[in-house]
Amino acid sequence: MSATTVPTPINGTKNDSRVILGKDGQPIVTVGLKRFGFDSEVPLEALRELYMRPQYVQANSGSGAADDTGAKAIYHPNDGTISYTTLSRFPPVKFLPPSERKRILVTGGAGFVGSHLVDRLMMLGHEVTVLDNFFTGSRTTVNHWVGHPNFEMVRHDVVEPFMIECDQIYHLACPASPPHYQYNAVKTIKTSFMGTLNMLGLAKRTKARFLISSTSEVYGDPEVHPQPEDYWGHVNPIGIRACYDEGKRVAETLTYGYHRQDNVDVRVVRIFNTYGPRMNPYDGRVVSNFIIQALKGEDLTVYGDGTQTRSFQFIHDLIDGMIALMNSSETRPVNIGNTDEFSIGEFAEIVSEVVAKVQKEDGIVAPKVKIVYKPLPGDDPQRRRPDTTRAKEVLDWQPRWNVRMGVEEMVRYYKAKMAQGAL
Ligand SMILES: NC(=O)c1ccc[n+]([C@@H]2O[C@H](COP(=O)([O-])OP(=O)(O)OC[C@H]3O[C@@H](n4cnc5c(N)ncnc54)[C@H](O)[C@@H]3O)[C@@H](O)[C@H]2O)c1
Repeated sequence: MSATTVPTPINGTKNDSRVILGKDGQPIVTVGLKRFGFDSEVPLEALRELYMRPQYVQANSGSGAADDTGAKAIYHPNDGTISYTTLSRFPPVKFLPPSERKRILVTGGAGFVGSHLVDRLMMLGHEVTVLDNFFTGSRTTVNHWVGHPNFEMVRHDVVEPFMIECDQIYHLACPASPPHYQYNAVKTIKTSFMGTLNMLGLAKRTKARFLISSTSEVYGDPEVHPQPEDYWGHVNPIGIRACYDEGKRVAETLTYGYHRQDNVDVRVVRIFNTYGPRMNPYDGRVVSNFIIQALKGEDLTVYGDGTQTRSFQFIHDLIDGMIALMNSSETRPVNIGNTDEFSIGEFAEIVSEVVAKVQKEDGIVAPKVKIVYKPLPGDDPQRRRPDTTRAKEVLDWQPRWNVRMGVEEMVRYYKAKMAQGAL
């Protein structure tokens, strides 16, 4: 589909008939890029239906029979039960000839980032295997694909070896939010080190291309601003975040070890703060914290004095960048993130304004929420913003979503989930 197609209104939720405008003021009709002989473009509306669809329909609501895609569940309010069926039509996927269809392994594919990547790769017509131990991920994020002939889901911990024939490996398995990765610091290090070792071993044996999701945390609390890829970082090796930061650093070291020693074809994406639908609402990350608090009418909690800065990237921009990198010939690390920088205090204001706007459109009059300040936890970086010059030069990638549009998408998603009782 051409990017200049006239946009149709978005119909995901009640009163949601907006056209989504990108950073350049142009409507966003499709996501994905045509790069390096790999076309990853899909209509936004089709993708959006996958995460905005209700998890179930209510018995006798009259809407059950009309829902002809995805696994269907019917909720019976009279006895509080829910009944599932797999007998329904899957979302349409591109019909690719076998020569163009890739066998793609996504570790951590049931998590926030992984599930969006899986949706995109499935819609593009590839064969996708998800490997996940469901520590922070959930089957519900990808259950609309379970049973599809192109899809397989395997419960497996990447700390243990795993063998499968595949062409590409996206290695994402690792808890990403501080409460989750600090819950069992030793396990986080094992996942980063042994999990990456196992997946690199698999890439070596199958000659699959290997992409690892690294993080801006490898820069620690940076002394250089913004952070380019050749900055080596400023990390506390014994602090409470070290299990994640150092885990990812050693995972990168392993990746380049296999590249130099065994010619494994590697890609390293350094992801900066990303948010979007399906993000765990209670995982302590700032965007989900603020939105959930504002939707519940609670005060927004800012840790520290609110002057520390962050840049927030919307999930669809990240997936565009990851797919472009995987299919490019760039083996150096590449930062993928949004360069718009906000203080946490400013960001809290944006969230409270967007929530008030959505509530007003839905006819809800709620008092504006307040912002409260609490002490900063250990090793929280003061400033964080990517230098994305390399991504622009080698991938011809740049973020398209502006923060208000992305936050509104996420507010509508959480609001719909709350209305269904799923949050
Ligand atoms: N979301 C962000 O802002 C962000 C920023 C930087 C880097 N990343 C990286 O992206 C990747 C995905 O992050 P996310 O936000 O989707 O996190 P997430 O917690 O939602 O997803 C991680 C997934 O990995 C699975 N997993 C964890 N340990 C595993 C193990 N030992 N074996 C198998 N599966 C395991 C989890 O169950 C989950 O499905 C992570 O590698 C993370 O470090 C994310």
